[in-house]
Amino acid sequence: FDGMTIVELAKRTGESISALQDILVNVGETVDSEFDPLGIDIAELIAMEIGVNVKRLHSNVGAELLPRAPVVTVMGHVDHGKTSLLDALRQTSLAAKEAGGITQHIGAFVVRMPSGASITFLDTPGHAAFSAMRARGAAVTDIVVLVVAADDGVMPQTLEAMSHAKAANVPIVVAINKCDKPAANPERVKLQLASEGLLLEEMGGDVQVVQVSATQRIGLNDLEEALLLQSELMELKARIDGPAQAYVVEARIDKGRGPFATAIVKAGTLICGQHVVVGAEWGRIRAIRDMVGKLTEKARPAMPVEIEGLRGLPMAGDDVIVVESEERARMLSAGRKKKLEKDRLQKVGEERMEIANPSE
Ligand code: GTP
Ligand code: MG
Repeated sequence: FDGMTIVELAKRTGESISALQDILVNVGETVDSEFDPLGIDIAELIAMEIGVNVKRLHSNVGAELLPRAPVVTVMGHVDHGKTSLLDALRQTSLAAKEAGGITQHIGAFVVRMPSGASITFLDTPGHAAFSAMRARGAAVTDIVVLVVAADDGVMPQTLEAMSHAKAANVPIVVAINKCDKPAANPERVKLQLASEGLLLEEMGGDVQVVQVSATQRIGLNDLEEALLLQSELMELKARIDGPAQAYVVEARIDKGRGPFATAIVKAGTLICGQHVVVGAEWGRIRAIRDMVGKLTEKARPAMPVEIEGLRGLPMAGDDVIVVESEERARMLSAGRKKKLEKDRLQKVGEERMEIANPSE
């Protein structure tokens, strides 16, 4: 919708030009001519008013794209060692050492490799967050680490994680964990995974498998190397300059600091002081903190940061967009809230219909 004129918007949506102009007036916007391009925020507002679903497509045409770090999510069956593995990986992080081993929990962390490359890990507990984010169109994760306990083998949630990754078209790197246990049987795990359709590298496919022990801290470097290799194959790149496009990984409210969110920038640069709309909330970024809690002015792609200054609590998977003014931020937030409420009422209505017609 970006750059579209009223005339084009009318054509695309089947609404009359005058109806669209009325909406424009209602949202307090003036456009000199119906042939003037509308900004993307205005286009979104109009679309919401007429009940059209919009998705912001961020164009990187003409922008310089630079390599960026991969964003990795760890998934797997209950008790297979996801948290232990993340803890162990977190301790390999240079920043963790710099901060004297004390890292605050911000829902994500970065591991810097000796080569200078880095990997961003999301701390979010598994499937729920991943699905929620995917359902909301937030493709934050580039690679899934599928943790399978070497003694327990493939279990229901292992398969669930596999299908989540597949549906999201996100490549998997398998970490067979608990390899220190006497009952560990990595070969059996590999056969199980293969029989579930995972094309493992050593069997001629392209899914890497690494054997690790989170608690004994074995194989962590191998895992990190495998992730880097996978990310190199994917040639992950991002636009660095220009307005940020980011996603919320988790959000909380703190008595002193108010609502704050951990966000990962996908493209562009997020700058302190900017007005943002986050999901249906808005705010002006008062502070940006890096993963060790240090204040910073800017956040670049693949960098997890905590942002303060939001007026309400956003949800995991919400998009963060930068807008030009507080007025615009308020307007978009109000529009999105209205749309959410409309969708909710419609859903309630549909459920009532289903109850009224149980056979359908
Ligand atoms: P949920 O969050 O409950 O799904 O579990 P999780 O996947 O996060 O597993 P968690 O890291 O909590 O580990 C479960 C148990 O396995 C704990 O008692 C860990 O100490 C143990 N464990 C994790 N990794 C290893 C390992 O590499 N070797 C051994 N021997 N035990 C491990
Ligand atoms: Mg856990």
